[in-house]
Amino acid sequence: MSFPSINPTTTKAWARLQKHFSESKERKMQDLFAEDSLRASKFSIDWEDFYLDYSKNRITQETISLLLQLSEEVQLKQAIEQQFSGEKINQTENRAVLHTALRNFDAMPKEVKQTLKKMRVFSKKIIDKSWKGYTGKPITDIVNIGIGGSDLGPDMITEALSFYKNHLNVHFVSNVDGDHVQETLKKLHRETTLFIIVSKTFTTQETITNASTIRNWFLQKATILDIERHFVAVSTNIKEVENFGIAKENIFPMWDWVGGRFSLWSAVGLSVCCAVGYSNFEKLLRGAHQMDLHFKNKPFKENIPVFLALISVWYNNFYKAESEAIVPYSQYLTKLVPYLQQAIMESNGKQIDRNGKPVTYQTGTIVWGSTGTNAQHAFFQLLHQGTKLIPVDFIAFAKALHKQDVHQQMLLANCFAQSEALLNGTLDEKNEHHYKLFDGNRPSNTLLIKQLTPENLGALIAMYEHKLFVQGVIWNVFSYDQWGVELGKKLAKNTLSALDEKNTLQNKKTPTDLLITKTLETKKNSKNN
Ligand code: F6P
Repeated sequence: MSFPSINPTTTKAWARLQKHFSESKERKMQDLFAEDSLRASKFSIDWEDFYLDYSKNRITQETISLLLQLSEEVQLKQAIEQQFSGEKINQTENRAVLHTALRNFDAMPKEVKQTLKKMRVFSKKIIDKSWKGYTGKPITDIVNIGIGGSDLGPDMITEALSFYKNHLNVHFVSNVDGDHVQETLKKLHRETTLFIIVSKTFTTQETITNASTIRNWFLQKATILDIERHFVAVSTNIKEVENFGIAKENIFPMWDWVGGRFSLWSAVGLSVCCAVGYSNFEKLLRGAHQMDLHFKNKPFKENIPVFLALISVWYNNFYKAESEAIVPYSQYLTKLVPYLQQAIMESNGKQIDRNGKPVTYQTGTIVWGSTGTNAQHAFFQLLHQGTKLIPVDFIAFAKALHKQDVHQQMLLANCFAQSEALLNGTLDEKNEHHYKLFDGNRPSNTLLIKQLTPENLGALIAMYEHKLFVQGVIWNVFSYDQWGVELGKKLAKNTLSALDEKNTLQNKKTPTDLLITKTLETKKNSKNN
């Protein structure tokens, strides 16, 4: 069966939505609430530990039924089934998209199970200190070397699950800016540090450069034979990893049916696994799987990711909103927005549709934001009184992890007050001047989650993954490729060649590389004899 490729603007629902939009665009949400005292409970979805309140949006029952009709006309149901069943829906790369299979313990591919087992055994040894460095000392620090999906996911999750963390210090080196790697190395001791090189392709310039610099630093004191106690890799490119000097048993595989920005559920999550222990990592996967089941099985009118996507399309394509803000009221989620920026914007920032034609409508929304309450003292002025329409997702946890009731109540009060203020606005009571006028009618969703557990975090990330997929289906773009970043990579290589006339800087075998190959070969031969 071919993947649906329907231009949304040719559907009946689109034409009806357009008409509905011109008739209803001036209606104020304040009036919609006044007309229906049950609006808040009607426009909500309660699922497991999640409660989504989408009542503070410029929508009516009619908007919802037209958006649902749109989802039918673009064959969303079929698209979801095709993704989950492993069809090659990433047609421009001829690949299946199966990050959901990484967290489905009921039907897990054998190689995924084996890799999880390898991660469990390895992380246990690191945590219980039975894995020793080259001088016999246990590991105290882990450095994840990767970029994009090989960095943002594990970094975000490690930060988000700090509450569950053990004694290990985890660092992330991503930028090719040498200051990033040097500042990190300053804090480290060779004897007690484990480096995890994460690169699906193992050709990414930044990652290989950082990894080589770190390996040279390591070899200033240690020997080539010590590499196997301190360097492991996560990659699909086994040959290149071995060429780098990493022992076969220290390679954690991944597969081409897992996209970089959806890979934290794979061995890319090894640093997370070390930081919070395998059982918490598994809980993260299981939570995500629960959201997968919800997304796959629930009728669209009770389906959280589908609803979030439809509402977003409504603002993007009819109200012409250009961006969306995401504001988690949790300091643990400081890195959520950068993570989602890659997931969402790398996926849906496309202008050619699935029929190979330029689109005639807006696609990928710009996603931005940061944590509350800090954001209230930064960009919220613009949300409240600026000229742009910016729908907001508020995310909050009902119960705090640390029992800090006063703080928790203040945090929640602030979150709810902000969505209230965006909705209702207020007139300057003393009628002093217009500068104090808040017109309100500014949309938001509020997602209230019981507590920040690994399961709920997994479900939250999976929710946004599915939301972006639904948007991509509606916009008729291929969400799972990223050709747009390739040109920049190529040009950077060309420019480097121009700067590096003697050709000493680029992916060339250095004397260290040659020595490593020779030493490892000698070692292999002596083992075989
Ligand atoms: O910059 C684009 C990209 O391909 C991302 O999609 C990916 O997450 C990142 O580069 C890193 O790629 P790799 O894991 O192959 O090093």
